[in-house]
Amino acid sequence: MQRETQRLRKRDPVKAVERMGKQAPRSLAALNRLIVEAAPMVKGGTRAVLGEGPRYPGLMLVGEQPGDAEDIEGHPFVGPAGKLLDRALLAAGIERSQVYVTNAVKHFKFEQRGKRRLHAKPNVGEVKYYRWWLQKEIDLVRPRVVVALGATAVLALKGKALPVGKNRGRTDFEGRCGFITVHPSYLLRMPDAHDRQRAFRDFVQDLEAALKFSKNRQCAPEVVSRTA
Ligand code: URA
Repeated sequence: MQRETQRLRKRDPVKAVERMGKQAPRSLAALNRLIVEAAPMVKGGTRAVLGEGPRYPGLMLVGEQPGDAEDIEGHPFVGPAGKLLDRALLAAGIERSQVYVTNAVKHFKFEQRGKRRLHAKPNVGEVKYYRWWLQKEIDLVRPRVVVALGATAVLALKGKALPVGKNRGRTDFEGRCGFITVHPSYLLRMPDAHDRQRAFRDFVQDLEAALKFSKNRQCAPEVVSRTA
């Protein structure tokens, strides 16, 4: 554990990203191999949890990072936040198998407390480290609309922090059609059941609006002009 901490402390996100820039995976399989083989930048992280879903989807959903359940099972959004996301997708008339689901950070960052592994928020340097992979993933998956679920995904996709509440709705991510909404965990944390129900309805409406946006001609991957 101590050796792991020392190894993480020595790593410099800027240098790591420079090194990554020299890699040019030509397929999603090649990109995923790089991700699996790379050492985690965050503390914890036993394995990389890769994005899942079809290429050329209407929607690509980007969360924060895998949680405890995702780290154990090796799939994105399979824990409590994932269950809530599934319910919201169903209510919005969207088949989960039709969307691509991934995370800004590919490893579970956590603090060990006794037997429990508590989620720890990735910092800006860590998000930047993983950002290069996320951009490659988007280029290779080619979704019509990229949906940022919560603040960490917004940071990864915009390259800067923006408040989710004020920027909720349609946006663009480097020339690509984008949509900003809340992270499902935000709903899970709401103590009041009434507030939670209302927030759930708003979340479903956002997913519906993102789906509608994906039908827009301007969101077809071939007409997207990406500068980066
Ligand atoms: N599970 C994920 O896969 N991503 C999140 O952001 C939260 C839970």
